Amino acid sequence: DWSLSNFIDEKIKEIKNKIGDKKAIIALSGGVDSSVAAVLVHKAIGKNLKAVFVDHGLLRKNEPEEVKRIFKEMIGLDLITINAKEKFLSKLKGVSDPEKKRKIIGEEFIRVFEKFAKENDDIEYLIQGTIYSDVIESAASGSNTSVIKSHHNVGGLPKEMDLKIFEPLREIFKDEVRSTGEILGIPKNILYRHPFPGPGLAIRIIGEITEEKLKILKNVDSIFIETLKENSWYNKVWQSFAILTPVKTVGVAGDSRKYEYVVSLRSVDSVEGMTADWSRIPFDILNQASNRITNEVSEVGRVVYDITSKPPATIEWE
Ligand code: XMP
Repeated sequence: DWSLSNFIDEKIKEIKNKIGDKKAIIALSGGVDSSVAAVLVHKAIGKNLKAVFVDHGLLRKNEPEEVKRIFKEMIGLDLITINAKEKFLSKLKGVSDPEKKRKIIGEEFIRVFEKFAKENDDIEYLIQGTIYSDVIESAASGSNTSVIKSHHNVGGLPKEMDLKIFEPLREIFKDEVRSTGEILGIPKNILYRHPFPGPGLAIRIIGEITEEKLKILKNVDSIFIETLKENSWYNKVWQSFAILTPVKTVGVAGDSRKYEYVVSLRSVDSVEGMTADWSRIPFDILNQASNRITNEVSEVGRVVYDITSKPPATIEWE
């Protein structure tokens, strides 16, 4: 793509001019946006970019290992992994309000970052993977303490954190971010991965988060995604995931009565996530997912499929 190659060349020049030989930091989440931002800035300033990957324990199954393998080993980023799972889970203990979950996760992120930045006081810039739709949504809702939802990756940093913010993808849309990533040589399984919210699985476990619930949801989600991939449906939809509800229902297993969780599968077609329609996944594929989930995840007794569009529903359940 000619115009995007131009965009990349111009950005790299801009980054070199602006950051030069000073040091920068980025929070790498493994998502499309921060990955492309990281590799773009890495191209411009190399080892002077420190990529910090905070493992908050709320990521999808095997995700931390995959992020390390790709960015550290394949791309050669200076990737620093901070294992903060215990800390996040203890702060989230007993919390069921979605906005409180977001606030806690956002604040903990900042705290982990501040600590790292203080220990590395030669860092001057903070790179953020903000893209155009984040900018619009934040503006539309007034501030980062949004009435709709607080997207913690936009503008939510404390002033005390004395870093200059640089957002290389601020002007471009998701599809352009992906194409930019392709030109930069980022693997397709990262670029064409469905969007994933900053607060992660925390907002897909309705109610209180526990280690056990996280484990259940990771397994259910990974079976659903695997089933979509096996049937060549993953790339036909914009975002797919599972939700763990706090509801338990009755079932049967042989002669005995079971009382297990209800999970919902959610898949939507969308362009930017602002509006969305539920995906018409063939019943046979949903059936395969449901069978595997109830066979392989013993804590789940019932699988439902969410057939609500946005609006009136949001894509996420919390
Ligand atoms: P909703 O649920 O608002 O989701 O229809 C629209 C898109 O945004 C993602 N999302 C978030 N991303 N922090 C994020 O970084 C959040 O708190 C958050 N909430 C929702 C959601 O996954 C969907 O792609």
